[in-house]
Amino acid sequence: MHVFQPIPVDMLEINPFESFGKDWALVSSGSKKRANTMTVSWGGIGVLWGKNVAFIFVRDSRYTKEFLDQGEFFSISFMSQEYREALNYCGSHSGRDGDKVPEAGLTWNYKLSIPFIDEGSFVVLCHKLSAVKLTEDSFLSPEIAKWYKDGDLHTMYIGEIIELMAR
Ligand SMILES: Cc1cc2nc3c(=O)[nH]c(=O)nc-3n(C[C@H](O)[C@H](O)[C@H](O)COP(=O)(O)O)c2cc1C
Repeated sequence: MHVFQPIPVDMLEINPFESFGKDWALVSSGSKKRANTMTVSWGGIGVLWGKNVAFIFVRDSRYTKEFLDQGEFFSISFMSQEYREALNYCGSHSGRDGDKVPEAGLTWNYKLSIPFIDEGSFVVLCHKLSAVKLTEDSFLSPEIAKWYKDGDLHTMYIGEIIELMAR
């Protein structure tokens, strides 16, 4: 297991366009007994309800969504480029069909019993504040519909950042 150091939120230097959009991350949820992870490239970090928050977007079909809905917490593990293949694996295989963390060459770690990926270079631990389903009646631009031809809608999960850790 790697050693992770907590870092103050105001020390965080990430560019969300790079970290989510280009580098990708692994969103994990569950418990020490049972957890799942999946690759995400949509999400962000900001301020809401007077709190530092992270938000992610998870489609109905994802097995990870079951863990997010049942649990109180989730983590976002940001990975360096050497784990690109593992990110591709976790973004194209479902935890319904196998134990994809070891299959991708990754390892579970836990902080405050929240599962995260030990190979992450930095990790955001979140306490779930809100889950908002993005329904078609909320889309103001017709362009958005192209993402939902199969009706597999996203839920936005907003979590208060309770800890940031760097390896
Ligand atoms: C680069 C990349 C980014 C992805 N981003 C998202 C995302 O933001 N939201 C989402 O619902 N699925 C996203 N996916 C798809 C899921 O990671 C994928 O469907 C995964 O197999 C779900 O696993 P699960 O069924 O074990 O939860 C992404 C996949 C890749 C490869």
